[in-house]
Amino acid sequence: CSSDLQGALAGLGQPSGIESRPMTPVNVFELEAIARERLSLEAWDYYAGGAHDEVTLRGNRAAYDRLSLAYRVLVDVSRRELATTVLGQPVALPILVAPTAFHRLATPEGERATARAAGAAGTVMILSTLSTTPLEEVVAAASGPVWFQLYVYRDRKATEGLVRRAEAAGCRALVLTVDAPLLGRRERDVRNRFRLPPGLAVANLLPDGYGDLPPAAADSGLAAYVASFLDPALTWRDVAWLQSITTLPVLVKGIVRPDDALRAAEAGAAGVVVSNHGGRQLDTSPATLDVLPEIADALEARGHRIEVLMDGGVRRGTDVLKAIALGARAVLVGRPILWGLAADGEAGAVLALRLLRDELDLAMALAGAPTLADVTRDLVRRGP
Ligand code: GLV
Repeated sequence: CSSDLQGALAGLGQPSGIESRPMTPVNVFELEAIARERLSLEAWDYYAGGAHDEVTLRGNRAAYDRLSLAYRVLVDVSRRELATTVLGQPVALPILVAPTAFHRLATPEGERATARAAGAAGTVMILSTLSTTPLEEVVAAASGPVWFQLYVYRDRKATEGLVRRAEAAGCRALVLTVDAPLLGRRERDVRNRFRLPPGLAVANLLPDGYGDLPPAAADSGLAAYVASFLDPALTWRDVAWLQSITTLPVLVKGIVRPDDALRAAEAGAAGVVVSNHGGRQLDTSPATLDVLPEIADALEARGHRIEVLMDGGVRRGTDVLKAIALGARAVLVGRPILWGLAADGEAGAVLALRLLRDELDLAMALAGAPTLADVTRDLVRRGP
């Protein structure tokens, strides 16, 4: 942790007597506190906000606290194994970097810094279509696997162009976001008339003429962008279309219902991401942890062996443990990476991943689950 970061934390109103002692963030919430100090109000609100009353944003978090962990004792946990595979690709931990937009709002190095941090942690970065750095440059900077999150534009030629570029650059999977026919109304962004600052753009789409957020008199510029350029008529037929134009595995992201997970499997998807877009789309949609077991059960009952990933509110190693116990192969983390980037660039993102990794390692030891295969549903009970 850089001394810069230690200084920032020391200045954040710590209890008297320890103000001058250099400190390293001990959890991702402390990175969040530093990020809040460092980001512009517009950028902070954009990253932090959820749709409407932010019920789902809070609900994603609250769901973890409603479950308790019934740990096993007298299990040899002297060695723990966190490594696994996702879509057959080895990762050092079951925590992937979620696709999030506009990393250059957080740090000048933007998505390159994220890619290097993910590689250093031994995990996958899922790069957003709405990157502020062209995907080729991000993949070139990466030392680990990069997957590409795809938004489908009304302009299918531009969409196909993105797929071709992701393939040519060496991205190893496509993550099709299906929960955003329109953008959820994030009232913080509406109030701020969210825009990208001068010099930043939707870099991947600049060659196609979709690089800029349109000026919208009284709305979020991103909401106006999505309404103008993304395809609200997307259906399951387009999942088949996407697979017909690529050989990359396709994950369908934004699933909260067992029947939709089954349709994704039947449509040939390699996996689903149980997600409500970090509480940023339909407010009062269910917490992802709450729907995860029914989705995993439905797929298993029909004999579908596709992978189930999940995101939403993962802030602690015990959150990861609960998600895996309830059927996730791995989780995605979004905001904690952005907090790390805003706090200390690449090093901050590395720290966010290390904190979560170490917490998961400790949780596995204390739960009597030395391997991910030991993280089974019986560990989790409803009720505090
Ligand atoms: C972009 O995908 C966002 O949710 O803001």
